[in-house]
Amino acid sequence: MFHFVSIAGIMAAREKFGSRASAIMAFAGSAIGLGSIWRFPYIMGENGGAAFIIIFIIATLLLSLPIFIAESIIGRRSHSNCMGAMHKLAPGDKKWRILGVLSVFTPLFILCYYSVVGGWSVEYLWQAVTLKSKPFTEFVQQTWEPLACFGIFVALTALIVAGGVKSGIEKFTKIGIPVLFILIISIAVFSFFLPGAKAGVEYLVKPDFSKITPKLFAYALGQSFYALSLGMGIVITYSSYVSKDENLAVTATGTAVSTLLFSFLAGLAIMPAVFAAGIHPGAGAGLVFESLPYVFSKMSEISPILGISASILFYLTLLLAALTSSVSLLEVGVAWIVEEYHAPRGLACFQVSLLVFIAGALCSLSFGPLARFTLWGNNIFDIFDKFSSNVLLVCGGLLGVLFAGWKMKREDVMDELTNGGRCRMRSAPLIYFLVRYAAPLILIIVFIFNFF
Ligand code: PFF
Repeated sequence: MFHFVSIAGIMAAREKFGSRASAIMAFAGSAIGLGSIWRFPYIMGENGGAAFIIIFIIATLLLSLPIFIAESIIGRRSHSNCMGAMHKLAPGDKKWRILGVLSVFTPLFILCYYSVVGGWSVEYLWQAVTLKSKPFTEFVQQTWEPLACFGIFVALTALIVAGGVKSGIEKFTKIGIPVLFILIISIAVFSFFLPGAKAGVEYLVKPDFSKITPKLFAYALGQSFYALSLGMGIVITYSSYVSKDENLAVTATGTAVSTLLFSFLAGLAIMPAVFAAGIHPGAGAGLVFESLPYVFSKMSEISPILGISASILFYLTLLLAALTSSVSLLEVGVAWIVEEYHAPRGLACFQVSLLVFIAGALCSLSFGPLARFTLWGNNIFDIFDKFSSNVLLVCGGLLGVLFAGWKMKREDVMDELTNGGRCRMRSAPLIYFLVRYAAPLILIIVFIFNFF
């Protein structure tokens, strides 16, 4: 009885996204982040440019999109946070709790290192505004400055999430996403007219098919997973705020297409500048933080105002994109505490972000005072990054599709896809097939590939 009353109370109090556009903006906000601006260009740069982009698009539309829809179905059907979703959709079946636990803890684990990179964008924006410049390695090896920037980033994230689903997340992403598109298009135009930029554009549009290897497939799929925030409870949580009248396949497709478009624009913004400066596109994870300052300083030699405005524009974009994603990473844990333990939202935000600050501080310090703590050559930051991207995300994604494809009844999945038969969805059987058979198989192969 108590259980029934408490769930009814929560259902009544639950917030919802205001419209289809708001839902897509929130999902796109989560998807478009450091993954698109910081990770995508260097992974693509290390893996053959245009050929990688083609496989990335195919992987997103054929595999990540159905997985996104599967996670959306779990979220909206349960109308609950990730842990609550398992209680509601698989009552008494304890083994599925692992999916709830994984979905709540993976984004918090990711947030620890993600906020460190978010902090770097705070620092670089500050440097751009104050006309200072410090080499990347010198900055990250310090103790207090990176830690303070990381703390500022976590605090900003917590403040937005504390505002609630509608007044915090929805409002922020509804403004943030259009601004992000305007900013990235401006930078792409800027880059395009740099002397020597042509080679960078060609690198993005002229595929070399000999570069397509099994490794490229695994990386492209991994990036597509990362970009759409799959396998980590975000899509489940955000979908629980989507109205019952909304077509889930439409919100999913809107999100996937805007993410693909943004990633390509980010490539167009960064690669021509990298080529113009004569930097190798496969320069690795430091591409954005090490190569671009060099590009901006070159620009400043031509015209100081050009260099300064380009760098402010770029690091502002990076910070905004990181924030629209970090709020989704934090929301998963906050929704869990608010709904399962009836804590006030502000308190839940404080508790979760404090935990993230403490664990994330280890990642922040892992380039300086804690640099000697390594495992197979990986520092603490790398361990958080690699373990979450290669293991946790794939496990979460796999369990999610197994849950939607094998544990949930086919009628329930179809019911959610067609809004109780109210909308015609000719692709529903195909989506169901991809979720039930193709996605698990491919995820298992990728998981094995990541290990060997
Ligand atoms: N999709 C976001 C990004 O690409 O930045 C958020 C995110 C997803 C971050 C998955 C980290 C991650 F492992």
